[in-house]
Order: sequence, then C-alpha cells, then structure tokens
Amino acid sequence: MDFDNVQDIHSDKDSENIKRLAVDVKGGSYDIHIGAGLLHTPEDYIPYKLEGRTVFVLSDRNVSGLYGDMVTASIEAQGATVYQLLVDGGEKSKSFSDFERLSNEMLAKKVTRDSVLIALGGGVVGDLGGFLASTIVRGISYIQMPTTLLAHVDSSVGGKTAINTQYGKNLVGTFYQPDSVIIDVDVLSTLPPREYMAGVAEVLKYGLIVDLEFFEYLETHASDIAKQDPYICEQMIYQSCAAKAAIVSMDEKETSGQRILLNLGHTFGHALELIAGYNGDVLHGEAVAVGMLMALDVSCKLGNVSEGDVARVRELYANIGLPQTLDDLGLAFSDVETMVARIYELMLGDKKATRHGIKFVILSKIGQAVVNADLEEEFIKDTLRYFIQQ
Ligand code: NAD
Ligand code: GLY
Repeated sequence: MDFDNVQDIHSDKDSENIKRLAVDVKGGSYDIHIGAGLLHTPEDYIPYKLEGRTVFVLSDRNVSGLYGDMVTASIEAQGATVYQLLVDGGEKSKSFSDFERLSNEMLAKKVTRDSVLIALGGGVVGDLGGFLASTIVRGISYIQMPTTLLAHVDSSVGGKTAINTQYGKNLVGTFYQPDSVIIDVDVLSTLPPREYMAGVAEVLKYGLIVDLEFFEYLETHASDIAKQDPYICEQMIYQSCAAKAAIVSMDEKETSGQRILLNLGHTFGHALELIAGYNGDVLHGEAVAVGMLMALDVSCKLGNVSEGDVARVRELYANIGLPQTLDDLGLAFSDVETMVARIYELMLGDKKATRHGIKFVILSKIGQAVVNADLEEEFIKDTLRYFIQQ
C-alpha cells in the first residue's frame, strides 16, 4: 500500500503546530487540519468565504452545549447567517425521522445551493450531516468539525454518509465528500472515557489492516494510550488520518479493493450493534473492537495468523483497556444456537454482502488485510459460537 503522504510518527512534536493532510478524490481534493484550538477560528480552515451565506451548524445537544456557541459566533463574525440544528446525542439520531425533521427545518430557513452545513460532533452528527448535505436541494457544501476520537480518526474523513434502518446500520446513505475536515484535538478533554476508548478501537484497526509499524507504535505506547496522553492522541489522529486519506484517495467509493479493508470487524460489529439496539449500551467502536477479534479468530482458523499473533493482539487490547468479549459489551445470550443464527442472519444484510454471500475482511498477517468471499456459513458460525460461549 502506498503511504507517500504519511509522515514519520516520531517526528519532532514541536516542529509544526497544525498538521495538514490532503484527501485527493475524483473531482477535487480537500484538507484535513489537525491541531489544538482550531475551533476558535474555524473559518481559517474553510476554503471559501462564508460572508452572505446561510450556514447550518448541526450538533447533538451535548456537543452544542460545549462548543456550539463558540463555533456559531466565529461563523457569524464572518458575515454569515447561522442556524443551529440539533439532535439528541447517540446512535438513535441517525434516523429517517431526524433526517426528515432536519430537512424540513432547513427548507423552512430557505436553504439554497450556496448554503453550507457544518457537522459539529461525533460520527453520528457527521454521518447524518453529510447525508443531509448530500440530499437537501440536491446537494450543498459541508464541513466536518469532528469532536470524538472516533470521528477524528475515521468518520469525518472519506465522505461516507448514512442513516440507520430497522434492517441494519448505515444502509441508507451516500458518498459525499466534505470541503474541509477541522480536527481540534482540545475537544478530547471533555470526551467521556468510554467514548475515547471506542475511538481507540478504530485507531488500532489501521495498525492491523495496513501498518505493522503503527501497530508496534501502539504496543509501545499502550499505557500512554490508556491514560489518554494528549501527545500520543495527536500522533494517533495524524497517523490514522494519513492512512485513511491514502486509502480513500485510492478507492473513494469502495470499488477497487482497498477501502473495503477499513471494514475489518464491522460485519460482526454492525450485527452486534443492531442486537444491542442502538441505545448506547454498546457503542459502535466497542462493537468493532470485539468484531475485529472475531475477524482475527477467523484469520487464525484459516492459518493466516498464528495463535501467538492472536495472543499479541489480545495483550494490546488488555493493556489499553479495550473490550474483548460479548460479556465485556454487556451482551449475554442463553440460547446459543438461536443467537448464532440471528447474528448470522443480520450479517447477511450487511452492505458488503452480495448475491454470492458475505465478503469478510480478515488478516493475512498483522499489518495486512485481505477480503475473503468464500467462507462457509458453519465456519463463521463456529467463531460466533466461540465468542458467545466465552
Ligand atoms: P457519537 O457521535 O454518538 O458521539 C458519542 C457521544 O459523545 C455522544 O453522546 C456525543 O454527544 C458525545 N460527544 C461528542 N463529542 C464530545 C466531546 N468533545 N465532549 C463530550 N461529549 C462529546 O459517536 P461516535 O463514536 O463519534 O460515532 C459513531 C458513529 O460513527 C456510528 O454511527 C458509526 O456508524 C459512524 N462511523 C462512520 C464512519 C464513516 O466513515 N462515515 C466511520 C466510522 C464510524
Ligand atoms: N469507516 C469505513 C470507511 O470509511 O470506509
């Protein structure tokens, strides 16, 4: 994999206060800006003037209370007319009903094609905001201002937008790239520890799928990661964004085999989230953490990775404090076979399923992922049984 735009993660921490990465996609490119305090002057990182425009700032109620006024005041000072759009915090807001309500609110405020939407929040607000921006009056510009670690390292980059359905996660959505991604690392200071840890799972994903050196870096710094050391957080964000930018630049719409690798553990994880009920009991990153271990188990049974490799990954999970079992997620199932059948059925509804079956992302070794579309149902179900009985 080509990582030309990835800097040395050990580079001098004082050399540059604001880091930039470019995402190059068909029809344009945009920058990811990473640094402390960027939300005080977000206009510095938006590639056009906001004067005279209508700007919609979408947030959830928690984030709005913390950062909404600051961002709104800065944008208003640029001569824009600003309207705040609000949803409740949590996965349930990625819904048809919120999408409909917010679309109507924007139409009532006379949204036009030169309006701008700012998604200020975690992945929920980012995915919902991107979807709104891509559909309202057939598409307006939008800016990602992510406020969770998960959104910093994954969801704000790459233009996947979505809402959830009763049939599964993210099944209605678009590919629609933002014009800028503004990552203010200071916002992590208010993030609840569980939400931080959910983001770390997606960081670890990059080490597992494309970058052994980064995986080793995470091993070396596990205790600093567990303590949420700000310098290590910034390194994790930069390196993760660099990996994601490189992958998205190669394969914007998940058609040429690279972007699909970002879904390691997600087919399992999405099914677990759906079973848990999107009510905050199981966070997306937590489900992905356990889902990645399930994918690792599959990789081990295929002989791609050794039992020693599995133990090595599990040790990193333990040192950081990531969930490893369904019990850690608070999921307990008494009827094993019914649950195995139910989870498998949900996995068949995943976006990566085709008429030929499910495409599984597995590891060929630590630091390298591949797709396998030929796994037998019973083979996968054995992994589910193992985790349910663990
Ligand atoms: P989230 O958006 O629900 O945010 C988590 C919680 O943290 C919320 O309650 C929120 O109010 C609160 N919060 C956010 N920022 C805060 C801050 N700075 N201080 C205090 N509280 C804060 O969850 P998330 O983990 O950011 O995102 C999960 C979503 O992202 C899922 O729906 C998932 O499907 C999606 N996702 C999308 C992509 C993509 O490529 N589009 C990639 C990964 C995940
Ligand atoms: N998080 C998966 C992707 O962006 O493709």
